[in-house]
Amino acid sequence: MQCKKGSNISRISKVVSSLPPSGIRQFFDLVLGMPDVVSLGVGEPDFSTPWHISERAIYNIEIGYTSYTSNKGLKELREAIVSRIKERYGVSYDYETEALITVGVSEAMDLALRAILNRGDKVIVLRPCYVSYAPVVLMVGGDVVCVDLDLETDFKLTPEILEEVIDKNGPIKAIILNYPCNPTGVSYTKEELAYLFSILARNSIIVISDEIYDGLTYDFEHTPSFVFEAIRENLIYLNGFSKTYAMTGWRIGYALGPQDIISAMTKIHQYTMLCAPIMSQFAALEAVEDGQEDLLYMRAEYKRRRNFIVSALNRMGLETRLPEGAFYAYTDISSTGMDSMSFARALLEAEKVAVVPGTAFSPKGDSYIRISYASSIDKLRQAVLRMEAFLERIRK
Ligand SMILES: Cc1ncc(COP(=O)(O)O)c(C=O)c1O
Repeated sequence: MQCKKGSNISRISKVVSSLPPSGIRQFFDLVLGMPDVVSLGVGEPDFSTPWHISERAIYNIEIGYTSYTSNKGLKELREAIVSRIKERYGVSYDYETEALITVGVSEAMDLALRAILNRGDKVIVLRPCYVSYAPVVLMVGGDVVCVDLDLETDFKLTPEILEEVIDKNGPIKAIILNYPCNPTGVSYTKEELAYLFSILARNSIIVISDEIYDGLTYDFEHTPSFVFEAIRENLIYLNGFSKTYAMTGWRIGYALGPQDIISAMTKIHQYTMLCAPIMSQFAALEAVEDGQEDLLYMRAEYKRRRNFIVSALNRMGLETRLPEGAFYAYTDISSTGMDSMSFARALLEAEKVAVVPGTAFSPKGDSYIRISYASSIDKLRQAVLRMEAFLERIRK
């Protein structure tokens, strides 16, 4: 599109023009308006926000809390977050200088990258990954160093791969980590993390760690990145309430990190966002203070669903590793001979089951689909029956 008729100046920035639309959205435009679809597509809890959390927001609106908050976020919320961390892990953050409340982890990620990157700075992005990481790095002017992980290492970053990427690519400014991972569900043990973080510390690489699914780790305790002293000075820890407390619509996340970085992030946040919505911050405060039981209940449910869907998929001959966390199964469909988009389209058209093609998360994801099990067991059962019927037909 042109600015003015006859002008050669494009109205849209080159970076934005060059970005592909989100692969998930593209596919779900097809799903919209289709009746009777069982959607295992979106990465969103099927639970409503626990009522006492919503009620805390409603109460605070009723008594007049409808204003801006401090740019950094409600003091009570920052204080509650850091004191829970101190209680649980013995790690101290100063809520005044080392914590920032954001509009979801999405905003926190954008702020973190904008705060640290100069044009051309390199950021390691591990694929397959959450769809927004590479586009945000590019929009900020950074260079993406893609690392494609596969089944050979169980979709995990290994010390060998990390050392090789650092050696081959010269100075790296930052790495984005996400564990448990969307879309593979992969997480790491404390020992694995210690090894990776010692390499990152030795190379002075800033770690942006998105741990939004931390509470949804099923087979072992999640180890937060901030317990590793070696990277504390170079760590931007991101977390939020969307997934673990079923609060996607409230839009609350937070960042913890060194004073200079949090101060730079706060500067951008104050010019662009001012603050996160006050009523949502009160809801998040309730979640921190009194949401543990809800989290444990939802985690147990997700675990039951994970076990059900992963064994059903493997039984169907669609190889699926047992995800350690989050609520996604990353399923190998190569045995069908179809590519991921053709498979997802055909399954949708024939049986009205919506899944996300693996190419949404990595150009090398053509043999995979992502299935979200943040759906009721009944829905999952229905999806399994439909998928079995679909596979029987295409394998004939
Ligand atoms: C890994 C990951 N990070 C961040 C987000 C976005 O989180 P928020 O709702 O806090 O912006 C998502 C949402 O799907 C996600 O999967």
